Amino acid sequence: MEILKHCAAKFITLVAVSLALLANATNATSSGCHFPAIYNFGDSNSDTGGLSAAFGQAGAPSGETYFHQPAGRYCDGRLVIDFIAKSVGLPYLSAYLDSVGSNFSHGANFATAGSTIRPQNTTLHQSGFSPISLNVQWYQYNDFHRRSQAFRSQGEVFKKILPAAETFSEGLYTFDIGQNDLTAGLFLNMSTNEVKAFVPDAIDQFNNIVKNIYSQGGRSFWIHNTGPVGCLPYVLERVMITAGEIDHVGCAGSINDVCQFYNTKLKEAAEQLRKDLPLAAITYVDVYSVKYDLISHASRYGFAHPLRACCGHGGKYNYNRNVGCGGKIKVNGTEVLIGKSCQNPSVVINWDGVHYTEAANRWIFDQIVDGSYSNPPNSLKMACRAS
Ligand SMILES: *[C@@H]1O[C@H](CO)[C@@H](O)[C@H](O)[C@H]1NC(C)=O
Ligand SMILES: *[C@@H]1O[C@H](CO)[C@@H](O)[C@H](O)[C@H]1NC(C)=O
Ligand SMILES: *[C@@H]1O[C@H](CO)[C@@H](O)[C@H](O)[C@H]1NC(C)=O
Ligand SMILES: *[C@@H]1O[C@H](CO)[C@@H](O)[C@H](O)[C@H]1NC(C)=O
Repeated sequence: MEILKHCAAKFITLVAVSLALLANATNATSSGCHFPAIYNFGDSNSDTGGLSAAFGQAGAPSGETYFHQPAGRYCDGRLVIDFIAKSVGLPYLSAYLDSVGSNFSHGANFATAGSTIRPQNTTLHQSGFSPISLNVQWYQYNDFHRRSQAFRSQGEVFKKILPAAETFSEGLYTFDIGQNDLTAGLFLNMSTNEVKAFVPDAIDQFNNIVKNIYSQGGRSFWIHNTGPVGCLPYVLERVMITAGEIDHVGCAGSINDVCQFYNTKLKEAAEQLRKDLPLAAITYVDVYSVKYDLISHASRYGFAHPLRACCGHGGKYNYNRNVGCGGKIKVNGTEVLIGKSCQNPSVVINWDGVHYTEAANRWIFDQIVDGSYSNPPNSLKMACRAS
């Protein structure tokens, strides 16, 4: 009897401790997580105005479909990160670098178009890659974390535009970066093996940033892998690809293999991070498969010409490196717009040869939101739950 009682007491203590541990690792309720903020890191796939703030606005016709004016996005409308924010009940993210009109009370976006994980040794002007690589985004986040709290304590307007302290531990940390590390190598004429050789270094640097954020209290991580860049016009136009490397869809299979190699390493890294950071909920999201499915079965999903850019000029893919979307040329002294948008972007997947349209982004978001492509199979609403 005494032993039974002792056991029961022990069991109850155990249950209590387990529940406490669970509560510690997650802010999930049965109805889902409560994310008071999103902190995003990435490249143009999730840039809501960073590169535009620092290096000049992405011009018209970007933004035409949804914002009806340029809105810092390389897209006709919204990005996957916009649909993520909307879905968890938060406003669209302000870019950290945008000093006018920003409101960071529900998070900040550190992504810039052209960002890589590894710092590049070229200028934006030389290579088109952003100097705001992931380590720089981390410096900015770190500074933002510290200084936002110092200013917030002064009250007044600061309290209305800067995030509360708990947003840093309860917020959702989203990542979509890596694509440009691969293309940076390919555009330097590296072989696919040479590109693969630096992937472990990129993944190491990615890991370090996740660990740094964890050490500052971040717990919920939603990590997109990289898409099939071998299906994008700018890669198909710029990289030397032999006919034998083209797959049945028309994509450069050899380049998509490099993306898959990167993704395998990223997935392994996510598994290791789950062991190293026991209180973190780390959700790896296979965006590659969603995007490749969309491109390879475009007509099934209501889209046409999956490999042709909506906005651009000329060639097989309606993409011209020298005259991009919104591009003009001088004819007899007058500027003429030749990088025009297509009639109906809502049935086109590719916006400008590099980026997806709002319609495609919405479709991609709809596939990933319920956890169908997540590992572990967390939906967005449950992405605060440690496995
Ligand atoms: C930039 O240069 C440094 C020093 O030579 C090198 O370690 C690094 O790998 C280079 N980065 C890239 C992206 O090539
Ligand atoms: C920023 O957004 C928050 C939440 O939506 C709102 O309460 C606050 O008034 C906004 N700040 C300004 C200056 O508009
Ligand atoms: C890559 O190769 C192409 C074709 O040979 C060449 O035109 C281009 O200048 C090379 N690019 C670099 C960065 O070496
Ligand atoms: C440019 O001007 C010349 C001379 O007036 C004319 O012959 C030509 O057709 C013009 N080109 C275009 C594209 O308008």
